[in-house]
Amino acid sequence: MRILLLGSGGREHALAFKLSQSPLCDSLFIAPGNAGTAQCGTNLDFGVLDFDSIKTFCVDEKIDLLIVGPEEPLVKGITDHLTSDPALKNIQVIGPGKDAARLEGSKAFAKGFMMRHNIPTASYKEFTLENYQEGVSYLQTHSMPVVLKADGLAAGKGVVICENHLEAIAEFDLMIQRAKFGEASKRVVVEQFLNGIEISVFVLTDGKNYVLLPEAKDYKRIGEGDAGPNTGGMGAISPVPFADKTLMKKIEQKVIKPTVEGLKMEGLEYCGFIFFGLMITDNEPYMIEYNCRMGDPETEVVIPRLKNDLVELFTAAAKQQLDKITIETDARTACTIVAVSGGYPGEYKKEYEIKGMNEINPADSILFHMGTTVQGGKVVTNGGRVFCLTSYGKSVFDAVEISKEEIEKVSFTGMEYRRDIGFEFN
Ligand code: AMP
Ligand code: GLY
Repeated sequence: MRILLLGSGGREHALAFKLSQSPLCDSLFIAPGNAGTAQCGTNLDFGVLDFDSIKTFCVDEKIDLLIVGPEEPLVKGITDHLTSDPALKNIQVIGPGKDAARLEGSKAFAKGFMMRHNIPTASYKEFTLENYQEGVSYLQTHSMPVVLKADGLAAGKGVVICENHLEAIAEFDLMIQRAKFGEASKRVVVEQFLNGIEISVFVLTDGKNYVLLPEAKDYKRIGEGDAGPNTGGMGAISPVPFADKTLMKKIEQKVIKPTVEGLKMEGLEYCGFIFFGLMITDNEPYMIEYNCRMGDPETEVVIPRLKNDLVELFTAAAKQQLDKITIETDARTACTIVAVSGGYPGEYKKEYEIKGMNEINPADSILFHMGTTVQGGKVVTNGGRVFCLTSYGKSVFDAVEISKEEIEKVSFTGMEYRRDIGFEFN
């Protein structure tokens, strides 16, 4: 098979690493990729939103399978763009079409979908400029804290938790009247705050069947003890110790099945990953958000625990034969720790040389590149999240200890990371 993978993060390095191990993978291309994906296949010099270059490449290079890593091309319709072309009528795309990608692309659509299919979630209302005053009154009597969400994609920054009424109304004004997140915040979802513990659950669906992948928990705050601003993710663990059989069954019955069936009922074709961001409150799951792709850095612990051949999985998905697949997982715990550039998630510098990447002990650990590139034969930093170090262990504690030991072998100017990933479970 000739495979093209879109994206350039740690998620894509983990996917490329796994795809390249498959005997079914003849050629692997990554656009644009990073210095890590270059070790698994051939990096291409166009980006994930360059739909025309992607299509031309797929036609010219006879690509059989295209995997879309990040959400933006999905929400903007890459899948429809390719599959509607007669020259690509046989291509298999992993990633939903534009209509179904609204599960991630519009918070209001996602909430409406949850309501229509009785999927447990926080109560909410949506507002635009037209009912702005009604929104202000709604907020004035709402319990605190309250959650404000820009409807559209806002690079992971569109969710604001407000502690008091003054703050909530000011934020509401910024989003709707002052376009704080541009087009994305023209519509705002105001949502009840849920207390609990978060977990990320993933499935691969073919629109009819689904397979459940290992669950994960990510650590979003920049600082140890979950302090400071939100980031793309500073680390992750899998499995999640409290996710026992009873809880996972509940999640499947109350959330996953109604979602896959709901998509089918609404005629939304879906072949790809669904990421369920859940809050567990009193042992009950509540949907926080859908993503129409895998998470990053969750993929960097989920994929290392997946024993199945990934190309076989994707092929089964494209043929609507996921019912024939049994997922096999590594019983060990995997943890990943993300190394970031000083200043992130605010401003940070790039192009620092990264040293020591080849010294990782491959017995228990894997280094996945995130924001890296090659310059003059050297691997240099090219983003805020630079790389992550995944390790296997007998327990969360064990896996984290190994990652902490291994990550010390790597260095670049201003490198920072959290030493307390998985702290609740130690
Ligand atoms: P989202 O982009 O929807 O995942 O939101 C980002 C983060 O905001 C989530 O991972 C949660 O930590 C938090 N969050 C979102 N919605 C709620 C809610 N209703 N209650 C509490 N926290 C929330
Ligand atoms: N780590 C969260 C995400 O990928 O959205």
